[in-house]
Amino acid sequence: MKDSHKRFTVTAALIYANGPIHIGHLAGCYLPADEYVRYLRSCGKDVLFISGTDEHGVPITIKAKKEGLTPQQVVNKFYGMIKSSFEDFGISFDIYSRTSREIHHKTASDFFTTLHSKKVFNEEVTEQFYDETAQQFLADRYIMGTCPHCSNPGAYGDQCENCGTSLSPMDLIQPHSTLSGSKPVKKSTRNWFLPLNDWQENLEKYIGSHKEWKPNVSGQCQSWLKQGLQPRAMTRDLDWGVKVPLPDTDGKVLYVWFDAPIGYISATKEYFDSPELRSEIKSPTALKTPDWETYWKADDSKLVHFIGKDNIVFHCLIFPTMLMAHGDYILPENVPANEFLNLEGNKISTSRNWAIWLHEYLEDFPGKQDELRYVLTSISPETKDSDFTWKDYQARVNNELVAIFGNFVNRVAVLMHKYYEGSIPTRNEILEEDKVVITAIETFPTKIANAIEEYRFREALTFVMDLARAGNKYLADTEPWKLIKTDEERVKTIMNLAAQVVAALSIVAEPFLPFTAATLVNQFKVANRTWENASNINILANGIVIDAPQLLFEKVMDETVEKQIEKLNASRPVPELEVKPIKDLITYEDFQKMDIRVATVLAAERVPKTTKLLKLTLDTGVDQRTVVSGIAEHYNPEDIIGSKVTFLANLAPRKIKGIESHGMILMASDSLDKLVMISPTAEISSGSEIN
Ligand code: 2FM
Ligand code: ZN
Repeated sequence: MKDSHKRFTVTAALIYANGPIHIGHLAGCYLPADEYVRYLRSCGKDVLFISGTDEHGVPITIKAKKEGLTPQQVVNKFYGMIKSSFEDFGISFDIYSRTSREIHHKTASDFFTTLHSKKVFNEEVTEQFYDETAQQFLADRYIMGTCPHCSNPGAYGDQCENCGTSLSPMDLIQPHSTLSGSKPVKKSTRNWFLPLNDWQENLEKYIGSHKEWKPNVSGQCQSWLKQGLQPRAMTRDLDWGVKVPLPDTDGKVLYVWFDAPIGYISATKEYFDSPELRSEIKSPTALKTPDWETYWKADDSKLVHFIGKDNIVFHCLIFPTMLMAHGDYILPENVPANEFLNLEGNKISTSRNWAIWLHEYLEDFPGKQDELRYVLTSISPETKDSDFTWKDYQARVNNELVAIFGNFVNRVAVLMHKYYEGSIPTRNEILEEDKVVITAIETFPTKIANAIEEYRFREALTFVMDLARAGNKYLADTEPWKLIKTDEERVKTIMNLAAQVVAALSIVAEPFLPFTAATLVNQFKVANRTWENASNINILANGIVIDAPQLLFEKVMDETVEKQIEKLNASRPVPELEVKPIKDLITYEDFQKMDIRVATVLAAERVPKTTKLLKLTLDTGVDQRTVVSGIAEHYNPEDIIGSKVTFLANLAPRKIKGIESHGMILMASDSLDKLVMISPTAEISSGSEIN
């Protein structure tokens, strides 16, 4: 392998323990992380693969309130479920921990105390939103309002999921409490802020030194840095979380995004402190480093975080700042974040039950973990959002796994048993047509390795399939089933080489299809399944007897996928509109301040590197101007050119993704993800006033 690091500390996001796992989670970070780690282990590398559940923060307390449970009951319910789903799908963590454990509370507390004693934080009393009905401060997801950037009325206090902007509650227009729906009041409270602005230069250097990062990741970091970083509170007025380890701080906990990434460190400590909690990893290599600190502090350790795109800022800017401020730790060397996976053309949504849950998949497709792993890696949202459809699942399983991989292995096993009772025959003279397949065995493992080391898992998997294709083609070209009648010696060479291809596949397919690879290793008696050995054309010694043929993959029938599509549609709850209370009264004069007009859309185009934003050129009757609007998921640019729209003409200009926007398109939106443009119902000129 190219990477010369001595050891690898690989993390996969600590998912909130507030629901089961679906295919979006698997494709987003756990599969690529597992593929990377399995590859490293197969190269004999010293690697520690860490994850667990994030059991703090508002997502947990909101779920608890909804289900009438305590937060502890919620996390207990989902920790076990999530852990088993990962085990079922072969995600090979060395340890799967949880942030409610004592070791984590202590590690996070100590980390905070160290930063506090180094005077890293600014202690400030600021006004925060407070819900008088619920008698609670409203942090993060406890508060909602309209996004000042894209006008999404469902933006949260920490982030607008429509345009991806990170927000603080005070940025929201018309904020309301998600606890009681009431309008919050402002109340003073003391918090500890991490002055990210003071670390801007260091972060610019750090991000700038990693030109190799995926463009979707470095692009997001650059855009944050360009906006200028702001101090961010690292404590919250909540009673669920890691208590702030300072005097007179009752009712205050650490911000969940402060404690969660420290969870990676806690889990590493736990691995060494509590061997009974380790997962049982059947790996060709074992760890070589005896202590947790080396994985986090030694310069020859490589720290890699696998996450989804919504976690980029926390892992690329905030956690590195915490690590730098602490001083003892290495920084993440790479954060190969994926974009999102959609399902049948729609965003995966837990609340709308638009998801394929891993535990349900296994009930319907027992033993078919590798089929799902295969499809999800083939369509992995590595550089942009991608879409899972059941028809595509069927096509990929049938046309690729069954027709290419499974068919090749089966042909080899059947012919080996037919001609030699399963015993590997001795090769004779090598001919030109053999050299093609020998080259495939000798070169594909390196190609696959390079792609994995550069986090291009889709491409790596394509190469694995290309090796299986090369095996299939070799048999089709040489036709041993015909030759056996005329040239038995030649067939021995062909069958020996074909079996060597299967052995190579059992190694290079292992990161992607671990269950299938284990079957092949057993069936073909592959003794030394290290990556290095994958390109060895003598991996199977003469005379080794392979087991009887067995079916690796089964065809997916039309009825099976139709049933899944029906199940998906049927499980969708009938949506109910959550009608928000009418806002406070305003005067006619207030209304008159707004200049609302009709305009014509002259041009529309997507804002590059965003999924939600359109840049519109409007003819307002008075001028032509640019307005950026968060409607790209609801309208195609080409469909709205020429349309009449209504818009707020005297909204102060604001920059959105570097484009100055002069006004706001009026939209009707409900809580069901619908966004509809308000257009005049009869022909009327641009510039007409609305009042
Ligand atoms: O998005 C999430 O589910 C977060 N709980 C991820 C945290 S990752 C890490 F920082 F722990
Ligand atoms: Zn927004």
